[in-house]
Amino acid sequence: MSETNGNTVYDLMGGAPTIRRLVEAFYPKVQAHPLLGPLFPEDIHPVMDKQYLFLTQFFGGPQLYSDQYGHPMMRARHMPFLITRERADAWLGCMSEAMGEIGMPDDLKRFLLERLQGPAYHFINTPDED
Ligand code: HEM
Repeated sequence: MSETNGNTVYDLMGGAPTIRRLVEAFYPKVQAHPLLGPLFPEDIHPVMDKQYLFLTQFFGGPQLYSDQYGHPMMRARHMPFLITRERADAWLGCMSEAMGEIGMPDDLKRFLLERLQGPAYHFINTPDED
């Protein structure tokens, strides 16, 4: 559901500038995280750009990612990486911190994190080591 009282989630959260700030706050945390950092290339900018395009459409804004890269097939695109439950939790944790850092209101933050939980856990393709 991307509509809330006639506005998209994208509009409610503040559109392009908010998503840009979110992505810029998120990736330094991902890079610094011991479970996530090693999965990502040193030059994070191309990943940030793609995430900006993807989150824009994920939250109900223009279909920027699909216009450029075709069908998202996000689970398939994550298959080359070992995604464990621990890594999904770490990803969501970095996102939560980034939302806090950019001053997102708590209720909006909770709502958006709940929306991201679905795909994050869906991308798990490897059991946790223990
Ligand atoms: C569950 C934990 C997750 C991990 C460990 C993870 C990790 C990664 C990695 C390693 C890449 C590839 C970076 C590269 O280009 O070399 C990637 C790409 C990407 N991820 Fe994730 N990711 C996770 C969850 C998510 C979620 C929940 C979303 C969005 C809802 C997402 C969106 C993307 C996008 C848009 C790309 C770029 C895809 C492309 O190449 O076009 N990821 N992710």
